[in-house]
Amino acid sequence: MCLRTGDVRGVDGGNKRMITCDSLVYQPFQPSGEALACDGVSIQSIVEHVGTPTYIYSARMVRESYRAIDEAFASYPHAIHYALKANSTMAITRLLRSLGSRADANSGGEIKIAERAGFAPGDIVFTGVGKTREELDYAIARGVGTINAESAGELDRIAAIARAQGRVARVALRVNPDIDAKSHPNISTGLKTNKFGVPLQEARGIYRARRETAGLQFTGVHIHIGSQITTLDPLRRAAETLVSLALELREDNFALEHVDLGGGLGIAYEGRPIIDPADYAGAVVPQLQRIGLPVVLEPGRAVVGHAGALVARVVDTKCFPDGRKFAVLDAGMGELIRPALYGSFHRIVPVNTRDGDETAWDVVGPICESSDVFARDRQLPPLEVDDLVAILDAGAYGSVMGSNYNRHMLAAEVLVDEGKWTTIRRRQTLEDVLALES
Ligand code: LLP
Repeated sequence: MCLRTGDVRGVDGGNKRMITCDSLVYQPFQPSGEALACDGVSIQSIVEHVGTPTYIYSARMVRESYRAIDEAFASYPHAIHYALKANSTMAITRLLRSLGSRADANSGGEIKIAERAGFAPGDIVFTGVGKTREELDYAIARGVGTINAESAGELDRIAAIARAQGRVARVALRVNPDIDAKSHPNISTGLKTNKFGVPLQEARGIYRARRETAGLQFTGVHIHIGSQITTLDPLRRAAETLVSLALELREDNFALEHVDLGGGLGIAYEGRPIIDPADYAGAVVPQLQRIGLPVVLEPGRAVVGHAGALVARVVDTKCFPDGRKFAVLDAGMGELIRPALYGSFHRIVPVNTRDGDETAWDVVGPICESSDVFARDRQLPPLEVDDLVAILDAGAYGSVMGSNYNRHMLAAEVLVDEGKWTTIRRRQTLEDVLALES
């Protein structure tokens, strides 16, 4: 296990082990001598070669986070399908494959990335609202492990495409249980007001009505109620709901092969306690035992979130008459949109800490949007132009959500592994961008 735990009262209503970002046993981004390093490799020396802004990832942290989940479920048959949407840079995707992970793809593009990284089509689950006919055609032709269908209509399109190809598609239906994940509203997916899945009460009927449909083989049931979930109760209830449906389908003689619990396990972006993978397993395994089928897990953030930092340079500082101080970085919402989109918290650490008292800073990006803010009133040591800062816990939903807004080029990405670093994605150039334009 990479995570240290301690007893704390009040998490999820009782004595639970607590994880905060301060209590991670392994901290990839730590001072080495005077300056911040990633797995002991100087960040300053990396960006002297690669420039800023740059994402830097710790291979060790990815490995430890993956293993923590795998070990937590050791007592129950399980398959981890890493959710590529969290970070699908090829080197990260290959690293997960080398650890024995399977893949959860959310688009035709992610299926192709997984295949190029060496995942067998049968080891990929294809999830996602709004799959196009072209994507379904490709997924069925390749023989992906399971397509998690989002609606009755999608099931019918899958069946028609499979018949046209002379194949049988392996499918599960994603159910929407109307469970509040108690996460940010923008990343909750299991409420009846969300666009995801089919209402729970309709699911059994949809399975039954298509039992004989040529081209379909129902292999499982799927649920995913949201992301960055930090309390056990919604996850336990989701598992209970899913297993109850699977038991009903067993009564109806469906030969299911698995149940798919989706992803959603939160990470500690700040000091608030979150759940340990072992507690997650402890909450859902008793439910799973009622059906005994292997469980598919689709973690994304919990695998890569803590492993990455966005390193940026201070390009300007200013102080307004009311005392508000701004540090303007060369990275903004085009590199890491989470704070602007969800108001999310990311730790910010100077790479070389200057002597002096901590004061409140607004840490902002260069984009012409007032929401382009990483932190308000953050207590930080003195900052000056050309200083480097690391925005931590940016390994998930960071670079994958990058954009060229204001014609900023996509950041470079670096992977640190066993004392060495490699550029795994070079910085985008204007020529790369203009190659698409006439
Ligand atoms: N499976 C399905 C069907 C999903 O929709 C997702 C995430 C996952 C698995 C992985 O969830 P995770 O273990 O990473 O929580 N951009 C947002 C997060 C969006 C999550 C979308 N779906 C953020 O930055 O917080």
